[in-house]
Amino acid sequence: MPSHPLLPLLQQNRAWSEAMHAKDADFFSRLTRQQAPEYLWIGCADSRVPANEIVNLQPGELFVHRNVANVVVHTDLNCLSVLQFAVEVIKVKHIIVCGHYGCGGVHAAMMNKKLGLINNWLRHIQDVSQKYDSHLSSIIEESARTDRLCELNVIEQAVNVCQTTVVEGAWERGQELHVHGWIYRLNDGIIRDLKMSVSCTEDITAIRDEAAHKLFSKPPLWL
Ligand code: CO
Repeated sequence: MPSHPLLPLLQQNRAWSEAMHAKDADFFSRLTRQQAPEYLWIGCADSRVPANEIVNLQPGELFVHRNVANVVVHTDLNCLSVLQFAVEVIKVKHIIVCGHYGCGGVHAAMMNKKLGLINNWLRHIQDVSQKYDSHLSSIIEESARTDRLCELNVIEQAVNVCQTTVVEGAWERGQELHVHGWIYRLNDGIIRDLKMSVSCTEDITAIRDEAAHKLFSKPPLWL
């Protein structure tokens, strides 16, 4: 009988568990007692952007929500529930929206590819594209245009995070909470800070406009 196709994963899990235990005998029992991560990560579901790994954080240190192209929609109960739990129960101090260059979702949205149901999800990225059309349409090279849309998508999804009832409520209560926009490059493994960091409702528009403006400077000022 052939071995189960998932057997290697289960074996690797055993080996990982043993190695963690050998390094730190109290590791798992400590995690069982509580989780107190300071960060919520909202990232792309892409297998090449594993949240914990690229910022070298251990289990228990990062609360994570991932979906196709790191989109934050005000009617998405899944994302909103993660956000609410992270902000009101765990009380994270930082929310990081992290996109990535070479994002298939962003590229499909830009090329208006017909992929089925997912087009309804990607429509939110097309809304971002339409909003910045005057800038984007002046970029002739397709890869540069996709890069800019990947960055703009991060900025606009971070704005969406800021404008949720959850984050607005936290700021109204005076809770310390910062929302950030980052982007990861697959071919060097480096995260760039898009200088989209917001800590109160009043600053959203000015910081968004400045961050977006930087993207269209030549060379981009934030590099
Ligand atoms: Co992606």
